[in-house]
Amino acid sequence: MTAAARLAPIGAKVSDFRQIPDRPEQGPRGHLSVLARELVDLIGPQPGDTVVDCTFGAGGHARLVAEKIGPEGTLVAIDRDPVARAHFQEFAAEAACQTRFIASEFSLALKALQNEGFRASALYMDLGMSSLQVDAAERGFSYSHEAPLDMRMDPRQSLTAEEILNTFSEQQISRILRDLGEERYAGGISREIVARRPLRTTSDLVEAIKAGMPAAARFGSGHPARRSFQALRIAVNGELEAVDAALPIGWDTLKTGGRMAVISFHSLEDRRVKRFFNDLATGCTCPPELPVCVCGHEPEAEVLTRRPISADEDEIAANPRARSARLRGAIKLEAGGEAR
Ligand SMILES: C[S@@+](CC[C@H](N)C(=O)[O-])C[C@H]1O[C@@H](n2cnc3c(N)ncnc32)[C@H](O)[C@@H]1O
Repeated sequence: MTAAARLAPIGAKVSDFRQIPDRPEQGPRGHLSVLARELVDLIGPQPGDTVVDCTFGAGGHARLVAEKIGPEGTLVAIDRDPVARAHFQEFAAEAACQTRFIASEFSLALKALQNEGFRASALYMDLGMSSLQVDAAERGFSYSHEAPLDMRMDPRQSLTAEEILNTFSEQQISRILRDLGEERYAGGISREIVARRPLRTTSDLVEAIKAGMPAAARFGSGHPARRSFQALRIAVNGELEAVDAALPIGWDTLKTGGRMAVISFHSLEDRRVKRFFNDLATGCTCPPELPVCVCGHEPEAEVLTRRPISADEDEIAANPRARSARLRGAIKLEAGGEAR
């Protein structure tokens, strides 16, 4: 479903959207927040709400939410990247709501909130990396800049891309490239990486990737290193494990009637989010041959996006990164399966 054909606003009136200025998703130093209006539409923040932004980044989504929840509301921002903390300080200085920042991996931050007894009216994740991270050449996320092979979102973590590339076995590297990047030349590329050790810079890696694929494939659609860089970034930051851990904890911190929304950028994440919401929305899980229900399982969620919401052509033209974005959401039901 494209944003143009998106579902009717939930919890928000059309007039609310007229108050959102053009391109409010333009964050500090040019970060463009993806599906910003659609996300706000889906979680429907109300004055006084407590909202958790699990991936604060440059705070583009947070700014829109802060306007909605107002001075009685609280926005808890989480990010594991110290650069995001600096953006949060700017945001907090002028935010329309109360604010708090947790500098941590989001599943750990959510666990800490849960232990405090914190209850969220809404919670959202905008997964992956921000353009601020890609554009910081020295961090090694980009195949377009010469830099050390780092790729850590949290510099306190010890595992880097360089360690993976220079110490993991050829089979392990091949599996990372194939499973996390869907790179069809994973075998040839990993062979080339091992033969060229030690690799020190992003250029060393780009050269190994090009040498490990057939000449014709280097000139296909997109940069030949795109898939391998994505795979390594996901591996370095344990991104899929983090999502798997955070979804259930985030769900538990939601109040009844609370909404959760996730923007993902590749099928590995989107599949997880879809399955998570669908499982929560499933009632009886007894085998169909049983005449009566014995499991007693009741739906905990109503899925708000039967199909994921994606960016419309205008947004993609302004921000090509939005092309692969998929937004899904669900609302937490009262016991017995009733929405409030
Ligand atoms: C796509 S950006 C978010 C952009 C933000 N929504 C905005 O509008 O500016 C993703 C952010 O999430 C952070 N992040 C990704 N995975 C994380 C995790 N597991 N725990 C905490 N932060 C994470 C990254 O450091 C990055 O700053």
